[in-house]
Amino acid sequence: MADLTTLEEKLAEVTGLAAAAADATKKVEGLLDDDQTEIAQALRTMRDEAEETERRCEEVAGERDGKKTAILDKAAETKKEGKAFLDIYLDEESDELDGFEFLTMAEAGEVGHWKILAKVNEKARESRVQELVDFALPIQERHESEVREISLGLAAEEDPDEE
Ligand SMILES: [Fe+2]
Repeated sequence: MADLTTLEEKLAEVTGLAAAAADATKKVEGLLDDDQTEIAQALRTMRDEAEETERRCEEVAGERDGKKTAILDKAAETKKEGKAFLDIYLDEESDELDGFEFLTMAEAGEVGHWKILAKVNEKARESRVQELVDFALPIQERHESEVREISLGLAAEEDPDEE
């Protein structure tokens, strides 16, 4: 397999995390009650944006001569790790608040990774990577604050004395 540069590795990681996030929104949507339509809609928008992010990442990966396969392989690995984390965190007992707690961690992780890619690219100065960061980072920051707000809304409805 072709060796990846640090920049390519970071590109692979955000690609894999976007794919994992898209799957996570699906899983959490499944934990919602039928009347939580606004939250379901927010999750669907997040999923669309995660899929679009993944698509753009793959496009940038595809422009790297001879590296596309290695980047996508590494992205698939990251996606698998994200999925394993999700499977550990959420089980049959989980409710929608647990789901949003997971998303709070996952989206914060995505924001962190995008900032790391941006930082590594400060030296590499690749315009295609910069364009990708400019597209994805504001979206990820919005996802992070959205899932945190939804988590707090759900927490506010919880009965603290319930056993
Ligand atoms: Fe996200």
